[in-house]
Amino acid sequence: MFKVINKIEKGYDLNVTLVFEEQIKICEFLSPENIKLIERLINKKEFTGKKGELLKIDFIERDNLVSMYYVGMGKEEDFNLDVYREVVFDVLSKEKGEVLISGQNEKLLNYNVLGEIASNLNYNFDTFKNKKGEKLEINLFVAEKEIDFSETIALGEATDIARDLVDQPANIINPITLSEKALELGKKYGFEVEILDEKQIEDLGMNLLMAVGRASVTKPRLIVMRYLNGKDNNEKIGLVGKGLTYDTGGLCIKPADSMFEMKSDMAGAASVIGAMCAIANRKVEKNVVAIVPACENAINGNAYRPGDIITSMNGKSVEIINTDAEGRLALADAITYAVRNEKVTEIVDLATLTGAILVALGSLTTGVFSNNDEKYDLLERSSKEYGEKIWRMPLFNEYEDLLKSTVADVKHTGGRMGGSITAAKFLEGFVEGLPWIHMDIAGTAFNSSVKWVKKGATGVGVKTLYSYVKNR
Ligand code: BES
Ligand code: MG
Ligand code: ZN
Repeated sequence: MFKVINKIEKGYDLNVTLVFEEQIKICEFLSPENIKLIERLINKKEFTGKKGELLKIDFIERDNLVSMYYVGMGKEEDFNLDVYREVVFDVLSKEKGEVLISGQNEKLLNYNVLGEIASNLNYNFDTFKNKKGEKLEINLFVAEKEIDFSETIALGEATDIARDLVDQPANIINPITLSEKALELGKKYGFEVEILDEKQIEDLGMNLLMAVGRASVTKPRLIVMRYLNGKDNNEKIGLVGKGLTYDTGGLCIKPADSMFEMKSDMAGAASVIGAMCAIANRKVEKNVVAIVPACENAINGNAYRPGDIITSMNGKSVEIINTDAEGRLALADAITYAVRNEKVTEIVDLATLTGAILVALGSLTTGVFSNNDEKYDLLERSSKEYGEKIWRMPLFNEYEDLLKSTVADVKHTGGRMGGSITAAKFLEGFVEGLPWIHMDIAGTAFNSSVKWVKKGATGVGVKTLYSYVKNR
C-alpha cells in the first residue's frame, strides 16, 4: 500500500514528481534526449507548477516506457499540508498500479501525509461487491534516509476500522454485533472490553438509554473499553461515542430521504473504537476508558413517546419532546456511567448529534463545544495535525433556559433555533463539572466534503482523538 524507498530498482506504472510553482528541475538521471524532451514540453505547454496543474509525459528510457507526471503544488509560500493532501489525493485517485513519488523539495516528501493519503485512497467499502476495488501501491522516494512511519500506518488502519463499521449497514451492525466487533478488536489490539446487556443496563438505572433502544429487536448494550497504561494515575480520559446503529427517528419518524443515511448514526462509536485500537496498538502510556451506548432507535408498540417523562441514571427527570432527539439521551446515561462508575477525570464525546450542525458548518467542519479552554486548545492542535477541521461553538448559559420543562427537571430539546447548542447544553448537564469536549460530527462523519476523503464513512475523529490522548 505505502512504502518509503531509498533506491529505485525497478520500473513503475507511473512516476509522479511534485514541484513548486516556478521551481521546476528535471531529473538528472535521465538521458540527454529525454531531458531535452521534457524541457521542450514544459515550455510548449507553459507548465509552471500552479496548484493542481498536471503535465503528463510518456517517453522511452533505456528501452523502457516511462510514464511521468509533473504535478504542480503551487507557490512554495502558499503551501500547507491541506494543499498537499488535496492535490496528491486528486491526482492519484485516477490511477492504479504501482506509483513512484518523488518531490523536488523536502516539504514535498511528507511521508506521514502521504501514508495517510495512501490509506484514504485504498479504503473501499466493497464487502458486498463481487468486483473489489483496486489498490494503489505508493512508493515514496526519499534518498538515503531510514524512516519510521509505523504510526501513520497504525492510524490509517484504525481509521479504516472506524470507516468500515460505519459503512456496514444496520442489517449487519446492531447493538449486539457492534459489541462483538469491539470484543474482537480489543483482543486483537490489546484493550479490555466489557459488554453490559439490557438487564445490567436496567439495573444501573440507565433508563434513557433503555427508552431509546427498547423498541428494537436487538436491545441496547453498553460497550466499555478500558486501556489503562498510564504512569499518571490521577488522569483517566473518558471517550464516549454515540452508538445508534440505526435512527429511524422513532415515533417522530424521519422522512425517507433523511433516514437513508442513518446507518451512520454510530459514527461516534466507530471513531472511539478506532481510536482505542490506535492507542493500544501504539502502546500509548495513558489511561483511557471508552464508552459506547449501543442501541437502535426503532419503532414498535413499546416505543418511547413524546410526552414521556424518564428518569436518567444520574437522577434527573427528562421530558421527552421528540423521539428523534435520541442521541443525547443515550449519551447522557453513558456520560453518567463514565463519571460515576469508571471515575474518568475528563470526557470527550463524539456524536452524529444534530442536523443543525450541518446547517451551521456544512460537511467540512466538526462543531466542537467545550467547558474547558485548555482542553479545547489541545484538541484543536491535535486536529490540525491531520487536517481534520474543527470549529468552536458557544455554550452560553442563556441557552440552558430553552431546556426548561414545566413537568420535569429538564426537557431534551430546545427548538429548531440553535439546535446544536441546546443539544450540547443538554449533555453538559450530565458531566458533573468535569472538563468536557463534545464533537458534533453529524456533518463530517459520512459523505463529507473533505477533498481528500472518498464518499461514505470518513472515520473522522480517530486521528484527532489518538493525538489528543497521546500528546498531553
Ligand atoms: N442522528 C440525527 C442527527 C443527524 C442528522 C445525523 C443528519 C447525521 C445527519 C439525530 O438523532 C437527530 O435526528 N437529531 C434531530 C434532533 C431534533 C429532533 C431536535 C435533528 O437534528 O433533526
Ligand atoms: Mg434522531
Ligand atoms: Zn440520531
